[in-house]
Amino acid sequence: MHKVIYDTDPGVDDSMALVFQTRHPDIELIGVTSVFGNATIETTTRNALYLVERFAKPSVVVARGAGKPLRRATPEPIPHIHGHNGLGDIDLPELEDDGRGRLDARLAHRFIIDEIRKHPHAINLVAVGPLTNLALALQEDPEIQHLVKQVIIMGGAFGINGILGNVSPCAEANISADPDAADQVFAAAWKVTAVGLDVTQKAIMTTEYLDRLRQDGGADGQFVWDVSRHYEQFHIESSGVHGIYVHDSSAVAYLVAPELYQIRRGAVRVVVEGLAIGQTIQKPATMGVPAPNWDTLTQQDVCVDVDVEGFLKLYYQTIVGRAA
Ligand code: BDR
Ligand code: CA
Repeated sequence: MHKVIYDTDPGVDDSMALVFQTRHPDIELIGVTSVFGNATIETTTRNALYLVERFAKPSVVVARGAGKPLRRATPEPIPHIHGHNGLGDIDLPELEDDGRGRLDARLAHRFIIDEIRKHPHAINLVAVGPLTNLALALQEDPEIQHLVKQVIIMGGAFGINGILGNVSPCAEANISADPDAADQVFAAAWKVTAVGLDVTQKAIMTTEYLDRLRQDGGADGQFVWDVSRHYEQFHIESSGVHGIYVHDSSAVAYLVAPELYQIRRGAVRVVVEGLAIGQTIQKPATMGVPAPNWDTLTQQDVCVDVDVEGFLKLYYQTIVGRAA
C-alpha cells in the first residue's frame, strides 16, 4: 500500500485526483492538506473538507495550509478555469458543523511533519498545488527530507514536446504561484518527481471519455462529469481541446504506475526573479557542462513522456472497476 498525504488546492482536476486516490486499491490516503492556488485558502479548504467527507474513509482528515506564498502577494483565484467555488460551480451542500469534524487542529506543514515522523520512510507526499506547505515543513523540520519516502509533484514545464508554460511563455501555474517554495522543494535531499505540463498536457480526457466515465462509473463517474463541465469549456475556448488536460491525476498515476512514464534525471532550479519567473530548469545528469547552481543539488526526476492510453485505462478502471 502507498501511504499518501495529498497536498492540494481543489480545484477541478484536484478533485478528480482525489476520487482516483480514494478508489485505488493500492493507496492508503492518510490526510489532505490544503493550500491557496486555484482559489483562496478558505475555498480550497472547504472543498477539501467536502471531498473527504464525500469520498474518503472517516479516518481521513484535512489540515488547513498556507493562504499565501512564502514571500510575495497571493495570486488571484482563477474562476474562469475552476469556477467561483473552485469546483466548477457544481452545487455544493452546506457542510455539517462547517466540516469541523474532519478538520485537524494542526496547520498543514505541521501535519506533514508529524505524519512523516510517525511513518518513517513510508509517506508519499503527492503535491498538486503551490509548494508552500512543503517548503514550510522543510524549514521547520529539515530532517523530514530523510524520512519521507518520496515527493511527487504536479508542477513545472520543461520545454519537452514544445510545452513551455500555462501562465506565461515559460512558467506553469503551481510553480509560478510560489517559485521560492518550489526552488526549495527541488533543492532538498528528498526524492522529487516532477509530473509537469510536458506529460499532463499529453494526457487528455476527451468529452467522449468523460461521458463514458459518467455512464459506467456510477456516482463517482457522474461527479467527474459534473465537476469538469466548466473546466472543459475553458479548455475548448482557450486551447481548442475537446476535453481536458489531466494535470493532478497524472501525479497519482505516477505513484501507482511509474512504468507509464519516462523520466529524465537531473537537478532542477526554479527562476525566482525577473522575466522568466517560475520557469523550471533541469540540468540533465548526462550534461557535462559545469553548472554550479545545479551541480551540488539533489538529482531529481522529471517526467518527459507518458503512455497516454495506459494512463486513461488506469483512471477508467479505477473509477469504473472494470476494463475500458
Ligand atoms: C495546475 O494548476 C492548477 O490550476 C491545476 O489544478 C494543476 O494543479 C496545472 O498547471
Ligand atoms: Ca492543483
